[in-house]
Amino acid sequence: MSKEEIKTFIEKEKNSGNVFHFFCPYRVCPLGAHVDHQLGLVTGFAIDKGTKFSFFATEDCEIEVYSDNFEGMAIGNLNEEYERQYIWADYLFGAAYALKKSYTLTKGLKGIVSGEVLGGGLSSSASVILTYLKSLAFVNDINLTSVELVNLAIDAERNFIGVNVGKLDQSCEVFSKKNNLLYLDTKTDSAKLIKIPKNMPDFEIAIIFSGLERKLAGSAYNMRVDECKAASYALKGFAHLEYGKFNDTYLRDVPAGIFLQYKDKLPSNWAKRAEHFYSENERVKKGVKAFQNGNLEEFGKLIFESGRSSIEKYETGSEELKVLQNIMENTDGIYGGRFSGAGFNGCAMAVINPEKKNEIAKKIRTEYLKSFPELKSTFNIIFCKTADGIN
Ligand code: GLA
Repeated sequence: MSKEEIKTFIEKEKNSGNVFHFFCPYRVCPLGAHVDHQLGLVTGFAIDKGTKFSFFATEDCEIEVYSDNFEGMAIGNLNEEYERQYIWADYLFGAAYALKKSYTLTKGLKGIVSGEVLGGGLSSSASVILTYLKSLAFVNDINLTSVELVNLAIDAERNFIGVNVGKLDQSCEVFSKKNNLLYLDTKTDSAKLIKIPKNMPDFEIAIIFSGLERKLAGSAYNMRVDECKAASYALKGFAHLEYGKFNDTYLRDVPAGIFLQYKDKLPSNWAKRAEHFYSENERVKKGVKAFQNGNLEEFGKLIFESGRSSIEKYETGSEELKVLQNIMENTDGIYGGRFSGAGFNGCAMAVINPEKKNEIAKKIRTEYLKSFPELKSTFNIIFCKTADGIN
């Protein structure tokens, strides 16, 4: 079928019970950046922008999906071997790859996928994978628990797409609730939803797209993960702790006191990565308390500090995102902001006072484009609210 034929079919059959729609939100992580792969503490909000997928089932495992954002198509059969093509279609077949490890799939699907914001840093990759997982499970009558959904999406991203992600993105996009902050311990998997307290001033979330698209596969993301692991392995060695296998080594296993005692023995880059880890965990704990108390000023201040630590200690954040950090720190009406996600281009996020939206948008745009006039046509700023996880 052509894209137009699929669209026409979806429109024509919309009330027939044969066509389905799923939505999976994107996420922002105000505090707890770059620590999930070391089993640290994270926070997150799902936002009211995300992936939409309209689809219908095929009887014979056939797949035919078009995107409203990208050229090309995802075409194939779930019974056949799929070779990665380094295009958006990989995410669909990555979801199928993970699901097929535990379940037999007899039905495929045809449909149209669309993403609301482009650019990256909002974890659109986890969002599309989750959407496809849920859709494939649905047409095959498989009931996935939320925890299973998260784990399958992580498996697809790590073992099919090839990025050693932690649990942050998938957890935020599944477990979040509107008007709640998700607080997750990625070591114990304990997840808490903290309701926005009544005494907290109103806030919205600004998404500021640098104008340059993000790329994780092929970026230094995996190298940073290795640096953290190396730091933790070395610290365990210095302190004569049981160190086990390198692959199963995380900074979370090493008490902060051991880091303080031996940090000068570490290569300076590894020490900086570890410093980010320990300080970020503390910021998360303080930030969660501030949020519970309705103290948005304090919560925001910690987000700014987290952004600085990601830039200076974890050494990520493109030049454009660093400029955005400076601008956000000097803009009235922004409680706190930082780059969103891994920092290899993409977006920044900020918690803002909704009464000052217009001034904030104007100031950021003007200041940013002074430094990067060539990004005028792709730079963008939007405002959004918190949302529920995938439904
Ligand atoms: C990406 C990864 C997440 C997390 C963030 C940084 O979004 O997918 O697992 O590591 O970067 O906090």
